[in-house]
Amino acid sequence: MDSDFTIKSAEYITSAVKRDQYPRDELPEVAFAGRSNVGKSSLINCLVRRKKLVRTSRTPGRTQTINFFKINEWFYFVDLPGYGFAKVPESVKAKWGPMVETYLGGRKFLRGVVQIMDVRRPPTPDDLQLWNWLRVNRLPSIAVLTKADKLSRGKQAASLKQAAQSLEAPVGEVILFSAETGQGRRQLLDRLAAWLDMSEVHSSE
Ligand code: GTP
Ligand code: MG
Repeated sequence: MDSDFTIKSAEYITSAVKRDQYPRDELPEVAFAGRSNVGKSSLINCLVRRKKLVRTSRTPGRTQTINFFKINEWFYFVDLPGYGFAKVPESVKAKWGPMVETYLGGRKFLRGVVQIMDVRRPPTPDDLQLWNWLRVNRLPSIAVLTKADKLSRGKQAASLKQAAQSLEAPVGEVILFSAETGQGRRQLLDRLAAWLDMSEVHSSE
């Protein structure tokens, strides 16, 4: 239905650690959250088909600010710093909670959160905490299991089932994804198009 949703432009706008640094142009936003090193920045690069729009790294804790990317000139992708990595210094960990909670808890233009997890591991307590927080706070969310290229199709299906059970979500709503192969890209874009209410946009163009 929404399969004509394409990303035509993507541009880094700004990085923020507090509220008064967020963009002020009141455009809809979609945020990407997940554990450190899970592949959030790579997933955004894959969606926009740009290898280096967002900086990625083998070292966990690369993204330490809230980064805003303007897409197609009329909405934002928001890359959040990762949580739950033991080796990140305490000082960084102590800032993560308030920084991300301030954003997620008080952002009027936020249409939903894509929560990214590693397909090779069951959702962690940190993952479940965020997932449940999003539910309690009635923020629409999509669960994505990334790095699917690391598992056979059979194992992917087993992980999908297990993750859906643990998240208490229908299997059909959890997306298997790979930034390497583009698996799941179309499916995720279609779900995002629904959040961003494409019909509204097309009619105003
Ligand atoms: P932080 O910003 O540190 O929280 O990390 P992040 O979640 O943004 O992860 P990032 O995108 O930087 O990726 C971390 C590592 O995982 C990099 O070495 C990526 O190349 C690798 N990676 C990310 N996505 C995939 C994927 O779909 N498949 C494979 N095989 N590797 C991936
Ligand atoms: Mg990152």
